[in-house]
Order: sequence, then C-alpha cells, then structure tokens
Amino acid sequence: MYILDKIISNFKNNKSLYVGEKLTMSEHMIQSAMLAEKAKCNNNLVCSCLLHDYGHFIIEDPDYLVKNNKDGEHESLGYEYLKKFFNKEIVEPIKYHVLAKRYLARDNKYFNLLSEASKMSLKLQGGVLNDKESKKFIKKKYFKNSILVRKFDEAAKKTNIKMKSIDNYKSLLKSKLI
Ligand SMILES: [Fe+2]
Repeated sequence: MYILDKIISNFKNNKSLYVGEKLTMSEHMIQSAMLAEKAKCNNNLVCSCLLHDYGHFIIEDPDYLVKNNKDGEHESLGYEYLKKFFNKEIVEPIKYHVLAKRYLARDNKYFNLLSEASKMSLKLQGGVLNDKESKKFIKKKYFKNSILVRKFDEAAKKTNIKMKSIDNYKSLLKSKLI
C-alpha cells in the first residue's frame, strides 16, 4: 500500500500554489475531482481529475520552469509514474489533458476564458493545435475523457468553496489501484 500513502502524503504536504493561481495544487486537483462528481461522471474520471496534475508533485519546482520559459511536461511525468499503479481509463486522460487544452483553445471563446496563467502556459505547451494535430487527437480512444478532465481542470480554481479533503478520496484511490 506504499503508493496510496505516498499519494495521500503528497497531497497533504503540498503547500505550493497552483502556478499563477490563488489555491494550492492539492486544492486545485481535489476541486476538479469534486466538479467531476457534481457532473455525475464515473469513478474513473473522478480519479483522473484528482490525479491530473500529479506530475507537478514530481517536478520539484514548477515555478522555476515557468520562469525559465520551459514546460515541465507535467502531464507526461504524471502519466509515466501513475501508469504503474492505475489502469488506462484513468491515466490516458491525464496524459492528454494538456493536448485537450491546446485543442479547445482553437475556439476563440474558450481561449478568451482562460486565466492569464493558463494563457501563458499554453504558449509553453506548444500553442493551439493545427488541423492535422486536431484530427489525430480526435481519433484517440480517450479523447472525450481528456476533454472532460481539461474542462474540470480549468474550472477548478475557486477559492471560496467548501473543499473536500484528500482523505475523502482514499477509498476511491484504493479501489482503483491495479
Ligand atoms: Fe490542472
């Protein structure tokens, strides 16, 4: 059960703010899982949301990466690590949630709604997808769920709502371990 304790303690020990926002990384991920629950998504998607930025826990200093104009590719780091413990339904949408942002940003309305920090990181992540890249992405098996993770991700930046704790998700995480 090492991994479960490690995930829980990472959530509890994380005090760094989500890049450019006013809540911690842990609060941001928990809030995106809460939104997925509220939208009556299945458990796998709730779990994807809960862990979607886990790569940031792996990168020691994400602020450093943004300041230095580098993208830490947190989605790939998180994916590579988590795929050892969770199945594809959960980790594939994590891997593609940044691609989903780049896909959704093709729409001007969506782009304009992005927070300033999110607009800035979009550039570092490669900017909006072109037609060819979009067509390739749409064909992926977990396209829809990746888009959903990204939508809850973008919305999970509120500071004035009643938050759940990572302890509330312990049994869900446990039930999803391979
Ligand atoms: Fe996020």
